[in-house]
Amino acid sequence: MTGMTNRPTNRKIVLVEHVKGQVKPEHFRLEEEEARAPDEGEILVGVDTISIDAFIRTSLNDWEGLHTQTPIGGVVGTLNVGRVVESNAAGFDVGDAVTGGLGSQTYATVPANTVQKIDDSLPLSTYLGALGLTTGLTAYFGMRHVGQAKAGETVLVSGAAGAVGSVAGQIAKLDGAKVIGIAGGSAKCKFLTETLGFDGAIDYKAGDVDPQLKKLAPDGIDVFFDNVGGDILDVALDNIRERGRVAICGAISQYDDHLNVQGPSLYLRLAERYARMEGFTVMHFMDKYPEAYAQLTEWLKDGKLKVVEHVEEGIESFPAALQKLFTGGHMGKMLVKV
Ligand SMILES: NC(=O)c1ccc[n+]([C@@H]2O[C@H](COP(=O)([O-])OP(=O)(O)OC[C@H]3O[C@@H](n4cnc5c(N)ncnc54)[C@H](OP(=O)(O)O)[C@@H]3O)[C@@H](O)[C@H]2O)c1
Repeated sequence: MTGMTNRPTNRKIVLVEHVKGQVKPEHFRLEEEEARAPDEGEILVGVDTISIDAFIRTSLNDWEGLHTQTPIGGVVGTLNVGRVVESNAAGFDVGDAVTGGLGSQTYATVPANTVQKIDDSLPLSTYLGALGLTTGLTAYFGMRHVGQAKAGETVLVSGAAGAVGSVAGQIAKLDGAKVIGIAGGSAKCKFLTETLGFDGAIDYKAGDVDPQLKKLAPDGIDVFFDNVGGDILDVALDNIRERGRVAICGAISQYDDHLNVQGPSLYLRLAERYARMEGFTVMHFMDKYPEAYAQLTEWLKDGKLKVVEHVEEGIESFPAALQKLFTGGHMGKMLVKV
């Protein structure tokens, strides 16, 4: 355990008003304060990187949803990696690398039992990307346990050039499936086929998805891994094969108006084709985290899994980075390095 006389200044992003519709930088303010000394059982952590995740948006509503709400004036809840700079907790030393919910700030004083120590022989950001709960692990459980893509099957992934989608598609490829990704723009589509090795890509901004999908998968799809929802989900349902599976990972097209979620109107295709649609969160697979860590780490070490990072610099870039997650201005895992 280690004390400190001069504590650093914490720079924190706080919520100014609850968000209705699109999240914008004016919903937040940057504040400064002296970092709080850790009480018994607590540690002071210098935040290294913030994971920019879609769930953050749903925590900014003025009503209680799936995720804990951020109060006005409160630091926005995020997942992070960082290093201990002062410890008042047994088992934690200065310099230890940790991951946990440290928030949108540069220093966090938290109970030590709310973070997990991590092995820093890998870059710390790996624990937010490839080995991150909301990225690698989500993609792993959604594809392996919910979608259950098998060799020879055809898999469609929406939001495919983003964090979860890019990993989910690669997992299906590693399991021997033919993989088609949907993304916005030709650069993202090129990224899917040329960098990640997907078999096909559909630019949903360049034209209707249905004819593009029928060209790439004339016999339909066996698995749809959905990150987007809305119209794209209906197109996928219309093209689902007998005994197909739809894994509902998220519906980012719907988060700005969460109380008025659209669709799907073609859900009867599930009955017609003896197909199923199943939602999940990564938390439903807590007992299987060791399995996912082991497999994802093996793929990473063997160079079989690529997780491209989009890194914005400085805590002040947090609001714009969050906005960018919804406007599609990144590829791979969106991070803010503070
Ligand atoms: N179930 C779980 O436990 C769990 C955990 C983590 C994340 N998720 C879900 O996984 C999904 C992806 O999250 P992520 O963190 O990996 O984000 P991401 O895919 O890295 O970024 C979001 C992407 O979504 C696309 N998008 C945004 N608005 C869209 C719209 N209206 N229509 C179509 N595409 C749109 C954008 O790409 P384009 O440029 O291609 O439009 C954007 O880059 C989200 O739905 C999230 O809620 C679920």
